[in-house]
Amino acid sequence: MPNSPSPSLPASPTLAAAVALALAASLSGCIRIAGNDSATAASAPASGVVDAAQASAEAAASTASAAATVAMAAASAASAGSLLVATANGAMGPATNAQRAAGEQLSRQGAGATVPACSGCHGLRGEGNAAAGFPRLAGQSSAYLAHALASYGDDTRRNPVMQPIAKAMDAGQRQAAAAWFASLAPSAAPPATAMAAASSPAGDLKRGRQLADVGEAARNVAACASCHGPDGAGTSAAIPALSGQPAAFLVTALQAWRDGSRDSDPDHRMPAIAKGLDDIDVAAAAAYYASLPVPGQAWDARPAGSLPVTAPGPASAASR
Ligand code: HEC
Ligand code: HEC
Repeated sequence: MPNSPSPSLPASPTLAAAVALALAASLSGCIRIAGNDSATAASAPASGVVDAAQASAEAAASTASAAATVAMAAASAASAGSLLVATANGAMGPATNAQRAAGEQLSRQGAGATVPACSGCHGLRGEGNAAAGFPRLAGQSSAYLAHALASYGDDTRRNPVMQPIAKAMDAGQRQAAAAWFASLAPSAAPPATAMAAASSPAGDLKRGRQLADVGEAARNVAACASCHGPDGAGTSAAIPALSGQPAAFLVTALQAWRDGSRDSDPDHRMPAIAKGLDDIDVAAAAAYYASLPVPGQAWDARPAGSLPVTAPGPASAASR
């Protein structure tokens, strides 16, 4: 059995893209596919707002088990097509096909009496449900999705629907669900964005775009695009995509930041930003982001190099 995996070409384009990412990440030194390079894995650079020291510590702590997983994956690569997927910053460790398969099963069938099927609300491909206000999960990073589930679990994010579900999930189930949804391309979802654009007053969309691209300096509101990206697709694994999310979900999130029922931002920036928005601005920002097209790729399929370490400034946003 060779040391470096040579997976047979996977059938699905998503997997093919994931292979490409794993190979690209391997070349750039972000993560090694061979299981014997734990030093490199432990010192892999973290991007974005994820704390580099924490990421390194986590990587170091999980090196032994990760190395074992890597070795197993390499051993079974030729026969089973297992492959490693680097999350954008390496902080989550490799997602395995086994995790994604477990996540898919959880999504379709739930687990026991306490964890319902995610697909009932979030859709079979994580596309969400614009009419009901259930968020799209496809297109988000596994790091963000796992963090969101942890936040419901530890009460830093309160929601009557998701809290009981997240609390009933163990760490492995959360990681599996996160790995599954991060592997799905949002483009498979029926676009609700045209509907959102058509049903929103033009004034809202204009004001929303202004907040997104410029912010509101008088109230200390930074341009949303400086973190969420000029296209609203997120700029790091810690920053969620907002584009094409149901407007009602975005309004709920902004109101939760304002009233303090959500305090899940690791850097505690969103509460202050949302408190700088009045009701009209909340509606406007939500309408604007709901009207943007969903990200074109699964998070896992994004080329690592396309994720800026520092978020782009308003200048790049203004050129949209
Ligand atoms: C009964 C409907 C329902 C079911 C079933 C459900 N969810 Fe949710 N989910 C929601 C709603 C509603 C929200 C938005 C809650 C909020 O505003 O914080 C949400 C939010 C989330 C979020 C946060 C998304 C974001 O962008 O912040 C994650 C992650 C999530 N759900 C994962 C899951 C997983 C995994 C399962 C299956 C184990 C699941 N959900 C099952 C209704 C549901
Ligand atoms: C300094 C960076 C930064 C800026 C600027 C910023 N955000 Fe955020 N935003 C974040 C982070 C980080 C999160 C995820 C927090 C968490 O983990 O719960 C987030 C989460 C959100 C969410 C919740 C999404 C979800 O899926 O649950 C919404 C809605 C949101 N931001 C809207 C905005 C709007 C609107 C603006 C501009 C007025 C803005 N943000 C500006 C960093 C930022």
